[in-house]
Amino acid sequence: MAAVPISLASGYGNFAVPPVALEAATQALATAQQHNAPLAVSPAAGLPELREALAQRYQRRGATVTAEQVVVTAGAKTGLFALLSEMLQPGDDVLMPTPNWFGFQDLVRRAGGTLRDLPLAAATNYELSPETLRTALQPNTRLLLLSNPNNPTGRVYSRADWTELLAVTQDFPDLWVLSDEIYEGISFGPEPVPTLLALPDPHQRHVVVSGFSKSLALAGWGIGHLVAPVALAEAVTARIFATGAGVPVPVQAAALAATQQAEAISSALCEQLKATRQVLLDGLASLPDAPAVVAPEGTYYVFADFTRWLKPGLPAAAASAQLVQQLKAAGVEVVDGTTCGAPGFVRLSYAVPEADLQEALARMQRLLVQPVA
Ligand SMILES: Cc1ncc(COP(=O)(O)O)c(C=O)c1O
Repeated sequence: MAAVPISLASGYGNFAVPPVALEAATQALATAQQHNAPLAVSPAAGLPELREALAQRYQRRGATVTAEQVVVTAGAKTGLFALLSEMLQPGDDVLMPTPNWFGFQDLVRRAGGTLRDLPLAAATNYELSPETLRTALQPNTRLLLLSNPNNPTGRVYSRADWTELLAVTQDFPDLWVLSDEIYEGISFGPEPVPTLLALPDPHQRHVVVSGFSKSLALAGWGIGHLVAPVALAEAVTARIFATGAGVPVPVQAAALAATQQAEAISSALCEQLKATRQVLLDGLASLPDAPAVVAPEGTYYVFADFTRWLKPGLPAAAASAQLVQQLKAAGVEVVDGTTCGAPGFVRLSYAVPEADLQEALARMQRLLVQPVA
């Protein structure tokens, strides 16, 4: 009988919903029930108290954000699409250092942009040097798109990294710089992950998208947020009003409670993840002819180089797909690095129960006893 598959592929962690968030959402529903009244309807940009709490949290992280710059969205993805749709004209050049989250490709395409990859190397832990960036930017590049911490590599771009990169982007006054910071609370380095909003923005072109589904354990609640210069935030709000609605109030109540407890919630998640992070790193190190793995500083993924197990003679993407299929047949589901711009790599989540991870590693060990001939 085939083994029950174990998924290390999901983007959502095995995190319990924070009790404060459950209580707040329950309370919002109970109020409607007690008064036999309709649910309150949110403004399109979100509840003022949530926008204010989010702005204050950015202020505590060193940014000068006001509540009118904050828009609450139905998940980070919805926020990204609304933003990209406002920013981009058909055919606009979007520069994306890769590896990067596979979701960006479709979002940029559907918003009319043309994505251009800027491949970074595993050997330098995906360093993006100012020289590389300057060479890659073109006069018609409309947007530079990063995730920090990076999904899938786990690389955290520090304040010093940003300072160097922004010294380049400030020479391109029409260029938007978008940092997707949805994993900001999941980090294991000595410093907290910096927000782009805390760095100087001379041309008012910096935008942050974030969410609640990763760092605040609210997967499935359908809520995120973005921060943009006021005119852009208003344009995004008008788009949301015209095409959808504000996020339901009980969900925003949960997000508000989670925002007020953000540091405690995220640090509990990191504490929970420490053990499985180590199990995965140790397990990969014990694979035959172990792949070189840089311990990820952020996110709950390891992006592992499995190129030594690719079948020679096949095009890289086909060989990568075949390897992922073999892993699946052995009972382990992973994300194919091709989808993130790096064939032969696999993204493995350690936000899973430890027993599942141990079993997945044992299955990989049995499959990968030797490099494919
Ligand atoms: C970098 C990144 N941004 C955005 C999202 C989407 O987040 P949400 O669930 O809030 O739509 C994901 C989900 O995997 C992600 O990895």
